[in-house]
Amino acid sequence: MGIKIAGVGMYVPPRVLTNHDLEKIVETNDEWIRTRTGIVERRIADPEVATSDLAYEAAKIAIERANLKPEDIDAIICATITPDMVFPATAYLVAEKLGIKRPGFDLEAACSGFLYSSTVATAYLRSGIFKNILVIGAETLSRITDWQDRSTCVLFGDGAGAVVYTIDDSPSDILAMELGGDGGCGDLLYMPAGGSKMPASEETVKNRLHFIKMNGRETFKMAVRMMTESVEKVMKKANLTKDDIKLVIPHQANIRIIDAIAEYLGVSREEKFFVNLDKYGNTSAASIPIALAEAVESGRISRGDIIILVAFGGGFSWGAIALRY
Ligand code: UT7
Repeated sequence: MGIKIAGVGMYVPPRVLTNHDLEKIVETNDEWIRTRTGIVERRIADPEVATSDLAYEAAKIAIERANLKPEDIDAIICATITPDMVFPATAYLVAEKLGIKRPGFDLEAACSGFLYSSTVATAYLRSGIFKNILVIGAETLSRITDWQDRSTCVLFGDGAGAVVYTIDDSPSDILAMELGGDGGCGDLLYMPAGGSKMPASEETVKNRLHFIKMNGRETFKMAVRMMTESVEKVMKKANLTKDDIKLVIPHQANIRIIDAIAEYLGVSREEKFFVNLDKYGNTSAASIPIALAEAVESGRISRGDIIILVAFGGGFSWGAIALRY
C-alpha cells in the first residue's frame, strides 16, 4: 500500500523581527548572529495569535493543495512544544477551526516532532484505520523565549507547516524511516517549569524558569552527529546513493550545523540542502514542514524527486525519513 504526500502548506505570522531589532533588546549584534547561526530575521506572532491559529492557516493550504476538503481529513496530529494550552490538544482546536469533528492529539518531540508525527501517521495509514491524515508542526516559540537571554533569544521564531498524508494502491513514497532518542541529555535543552515537577509559582516566574534553556555547544555537537548518522542510515535502508537524492530538508537550527552535516556526507550544501533559517530562525517542530512547503513552492523539488527529511531536538530526539515527493 502506498503512502503519499498529498499536499503541503506553510504559514508564518507577518511581523518580522530582524537581528538589528534584537540589538535594541539584548547585548548582541547582527554580525555575531549571522556568522554564528546564519539567521537574519524571524517571525513573531502578535499577542492575540496562538499556535492553533498558525496551524490552521498552514493546514488550510495543505488540504487545498491535496485537492481535498476538511471533511476528507480522518485525523489530526499536531507536533508542538507550544500548545495553546496544556489541554485540550491543539489538534482539536485546529479541527474546530477547520469545521470538522475528528480524532487527534498533540505530539511532543521538540524539533523532531514533525518527523516523529509523520512516522505515526504512516503507521496509522498502513494499519488501515485512516485514509487521510493531517500532520502539522506549529510553534509560537516567542512565548517561551527568554528575551533577556542573548544566548537563546536570537535563535527562535514562530510559524507552522502542514502535510496531508494519504494512502492508495500504488507503491509507497515513504522509502525508509529512522528514529533515535537519548533521555540522558534532557537537561541540555529544556524548559524547567510549568509541568508537574515544577508547577508555575511566583518563584518559577521570578527565576525565569518558564523559558527555553539550552547548552548550545553540546546541542550543536550532538545535532551534527545524530543528523549525519540518521541521513546515512535512511540512505542505507532505502538503498540510495548521494546521486539519487535531490534535496535534504534538515531541521533549521544553525547554518553551521547544516554545513557540517553536508561536509561529513561529502556533498555540496548549496546543491543538496534546503536552507531558509535566514528568514525564520529555528521554529522547532514547524521548521521541516515550512521548509518542505517552500521547497515545493520554489520548484527546488518536483513530483518524483527523492528527498530526505532530517531532524534533531530536545529529548534529545532525532530521526530521518527518505521519501519520494
Ligand atoms: O533546535 C534544536 C537544535 N538546536 C541547536 O541545534 C542549536 C545548537 N547550538 C547552536 O546553534 C550554537 O551553539 C549557538 C548559536 C547557540 C551558540 O554558538 P556558539 O558558537 O556555540 O557560541 P557559544 O555559546 O560558545 O558562545 C560564544 C561567545 C560567548 O562569549 P565568550 O564566553 O566567548 O566571551 C557568548 O557569551 O558568544 C557569546 N554570545 C553572544 N554574543 C553576541 C552568545 N550569544 C551571543 C549573542 N550575541 N546573541
